[in-house]
Amino acid sequence: MNDTIKSILGRRSIRSYEARPVEKDKIELILDCGRFAPSAVNRQPWHFTVVTDRKLLDKISAANRQVLLQSSDEQVRERAKDPKFDSFRGAPMAIFASGHKEAKYAAADCANAIENMALAAYSLGLGSCYIASFRHAIEKPEGADLLKELKIPENFEPLYALSLGYGNETLGERAPRRENVTTYIE
Ligand SMILES: Cc1cc2nc3c(=O)[nH]c(=O)nc-3n(C[C@H](O)[C@H](O)[C@H](O)COP(=O)(O)O)c2cc1C
Repeated sequence: MNDTIKSILGRRSIRSYEARPVEKDKIELILDCGRFAPSAVNRQPWHFTVVTDRKLLDKISAANRQVLLQSSDEQVRERAKDPKFDSFRGAPMAIFASGHKEAKYAAADCANAIENMALAAYSLGLGSCYIASFRHAIEKPEGADLLKELKIPENFEPLYALSLGYGNETLGERAPRRENVTTYIE
């Protein structure tokens, strides 16, 4: 197996991290890998926001928690009641990918960038987790302040985030994959 295949098959969502910060050169390399993701007509309709200020991540997480506490799903409410609730799972940082509102394929383009960054992080010995749940907080009217704090450029909207850091999780079984998802036409 070559290193690319090993990274794709080895990457896991990491949901527990050491507090130690990620080195700046690694962050830059990971961002470059995001920027080199494919995008529709090479429009690159993304903007990346690197947040190493844990206080801001805590604020987003607290707002997210308030929304989840109102969920109609009991399991979601119970998870939000956990005093250790953290949308970013204790990661020392997160990278947000925002898409241009007028780019038709911005969601796919930003998703490509996030996955590239997740694979790059894995190959550098870092853990990461794709996060979309923070949008609950941001999409509420009260979320406007959080958008300002995130300094999202005009006409962009945050779509996904990637929590990033040195993982300290004891990994259990990996998330199962569905079988029979392919049709061959020969
Ligand atoms: C669009 C998207 C949104 C996700 N949002 C979250 C999230 O908010 N919180 C979380 O813990 N994991 C989130 N995940 C991670 C998935 O739960 C995870 O990728 C899936 O369970 C498979 O596990 P694996 O990444 O370890 O292979 C998200 C993944 C994707 C692709």
